[in-house]
Amino acid sequence: MTDVRPHGGAGAGSTDRTGVTGATGSIGSIGGIDGIDGISDIGGPGTVGTEALRESIAIELLAARARTAALTDCVDEGDLTAQHSPLMSPLVWDLAHIGNQEELWLLRNVGGRDPMHPEIDPLYDAFQHPRAERPSLPLLPPAEARAYAHDVRGRVLDLLAASPLEGAPLLEAGFAFGMIAQHEQQHDETMLITHQLRKGEPALAAPPPPPAPTDAATLPAEVLIPAGPFTMGTDTEPWALDNERPAHAVDLPAFLLDTTPVTNAAYQRFIADGGYDDPHWWTPEGWEHRRRADLTAPLFWHHQDGQWLRRRFGTVEPVEPNEPVLHVSWYEADAYARWAGRRLPTEAEWEKAARHDPATGRSRRYPWGDGPPGPEHANLGQRHLRPAGAGSYPKGQSPYGVRQLIGDVWEWTASDLRAYPGFLAWPYREYSEVFFGPEYKVLRGGCFAVAPVACRGTFRNWDYPVRRQIFAGFRTARDLESS
Ligand code: AVJ
Ligand code: FE
Repeated sequence: MTDVRPHGGAGAGSTDRTGVTGATGSIGSIGGIDGIDGISDIGGPGTVGTEALRESIAIELLAARARTAALTDCVDEGDLTAQHSPLMSPLVWDLAHIGNQEELWLLRNVGGRDPMHPEIDPLYDAFQHPRAERPSLPLLPPAEARAYAHDVRGRVLDLLAASPLEGAPLLEAGFAFGMIAQHEQQHDETMLITHQLRKGEPALAAPPPPPAPTDAATLPAEVLIPAGPFTMGTDTEPWALDNERPAHAVDLPAFLLDTTPVTNAAYQRFIADGGYDDPHWWTPEGWEHRRRADLTAPLFWHHQDGQWLRRRFGTVEPVEPNEPVLHVSWYEADAYARWAGRRLPTEAEWEKAARHDPATGRSRRYPWGDGPPGPEHANLGQRHLRPAGAGSYPKGQSPYGVRQLIGDVWEWTASDLRAYPGFLAWPYREYSEVFFGPEYKVLRGGCFAVAPVACRGTFRNWDYPVRRQIFAGFRTARDLESS
């Protein structure tokens, strides 16, 4: 196996911070993710050698750490320890939490090692301290947090080299390692949200813009998904998390779904038409929230001299008409859909549109097939710091012709987060099970800030319906009969 350890060693106590060199420049250029298929073309240890699996795990772990470094090396100590929003942790909390979860799952649970610093465990347990409390905890300062995460990682790479990657549920197909690579990438997205909320000069280097749409003018506004059953969820995706399992048949009536996510231009028509002032379009809870929070436009927007402007990672710019709308709550998405004479799609409708192949009847891993996401398929992995224009990525469309289901913006669905029939919490209840119920709405498809390793047609995200700091937009649907 290639030695991908930072500087070739575990380096306990190293002063090299996150241990990744060359990652402090453009966040876009670390890409890290480009060309890293990782687990994506691995069907389990039976189909490729264990060495190849080990190598792809190491590559995924390294890519995640390069991204973590880029997100935390670009700001000073004050910015790392500050709380930029009560909704978020200080960046230095995410950094040590990443290391602590990696120690817990890989070194202790898989490796059977003793805790390295048991006294810090409670500080980084997300369930012991809500985000708003975290700045007042005696957190590891930046240098210590980096050294801890680096120390854990060195030991993990040694463990990986010696682990069989089968024979125990946590080891099967390298699951625990894949879970930890996804966990770090999820927190990298969280840290990117903190960067978006942070006031002051831009810290992240501007990456290249995403590709412009080429044939968008020829696209139909909506596509028909015919009635019939499809397989939702998975039994075979090796690194799928518990809430994506098990696979089960779902029969759906025919429906029509927007070809692309709803754009800023369309959303501005809702605003201009008084959509925020008419309770008719809103659910009672949505209207109550809209009043109490005084919502008038997406988060980060303001109106000035007759035009809408938005702040994006510290830079103010005009709202781009053809870009998918971003930073709206579920309540706003739901109200828009009703104003448009439509509704949000259910989670099952979204997944059928994204995965069902009518030619074979199979559910595939992605809209374009079973192959891993490439830059031609979807805007993922923080390669760009914004969604691509509506109608982009023709090579990423689903068999039904739906575009941009994966990447660009998370899509709010009509559905509450619920267990699939036959769900088993694994490997810990706090990943999914404690969130099941009516308080959380499901989001699908990932966004520009989601790494390929943490994104697939079965992946489920969730948040409160009031949340707007997440990179969320939506698309709308309607019943066939309503036409
Ligand atoms: C699945 C994105 C809702 O960030 O709260 C990170 C992912 N779980 N650490 C979150 C997660 C534990 C989770 N979401
Ligand atoms: Fe976490």
